[in-house]
Amino acid sequence: MKLKGRTALVTGGSRGIGRAIALALAQEGADVAVNYVSSEGAAKEVGEEIRKMGRVSILAQADVGDYPDTFRMAQDVMKEFGHLDILVNNAGINSDKTFVKMDHASWRKVLAINLDGVFNCTKVFIDQMLKQEYGRVVNITSVIGQIGNFGQANYAASKAGVAAFTKSLAKELAGKGITVNAVAPGFIETEMVQGIPDKVRDRLLSQIPLKRFGTAAEVGRAVVYIVSSDGDYITGAELSINGGLLM
Ligand SMILES: NC(=O)c1ccc[n+]([C@@H]2O[C@H](COP(=O)([O-])OP(=O)(O)OC[C@H]3O[C@@H](n4cnc5c(N)ncnc54)[C@H](OP(=O)(O)O)[C@@H]3O)[C@@H](O)[C@H]2O)c1
Repeated sequence: MKLKGRTALVTGGSRGIGRAIALALAQEGADVAVNYVSSEGAAKEVGEEIRKMGRVSILAQADVGDYPDTFRMAQDVMKEFGHLDILVNNAGINSDKTFVKMDHASWRKVLAINLDGVFNCTKVFIDQMLKQEYGRVVNITSVIGQIGNFGQANYAASKAGVAAFTKSLAKELAGKGITVNAVAPGFIETEMVQGIPDKVRDRLLSQIPLKRFGTAAEVGRAVVYIVSSDGDYITGAELSINGGLLM
């Protein structure tokens, strides 16, 4: 097991990609705190699956877009785990509309959760990682942040912001035992993409060389690679998992 003795927090660990990341980390031996904002039942189920693997799992409810709430969550996690080795900033939302129809509230909401959320969660754990001279931070970005998308100006801007944040922080923290990386999924089968109309899905599939959407488990395994000792020499990277959509 590659992560035995490590502790991790996965934001948005209750569903989709975050759930798969939480399970993949636990599979490799990590104890995992599962963050969620409202899906308590789903988060509890993830926790039960992790405990069945013989790991410790705790629930870590918080709205990552809210700094005081995130700070409170970090205190709870530190009380339970004593220290945090791995932070996966995965929580994210979309609120798609063409720019002309996009209102300020929709812009703010997506930026608050997707971009401010990454700042908030990283901020509340970084001093402790510096103190222990070890940390692995992985931010989940998106191919949309790399290429833009019709109707997703808010989402694309938030993810491009996270990618730039990742590289800046990687430079600041290199040499202090902390690596900071991003994983940029393409289209992955989760609730987030379930609303895509069949016509659009077919068009997307025609643009993806591997001719399918990815699975959440495939993203989970990539995160394990980065945060295990296999990934010790990787920092400031944005690993694409997109079936060849962008190359
Ligand atoms: N699916 C894709 O094709 C795709 C592609 C590229 C990137 N991504 C990125 O991958 C990440 C996960 O996406 P997904 O498809 O797995 O999404 P999802 O199935 O909609 O799950 C979203 C997760 O984020 C949590 N969340 C939402 N708002 C939150 C908040 N304010 N505070 C804390 N947690 C919050 C949700 O918690 P609750 O369950 O409590 O609501 C849920 O666990 C996102 O950052 C997304 O942008 C997804």
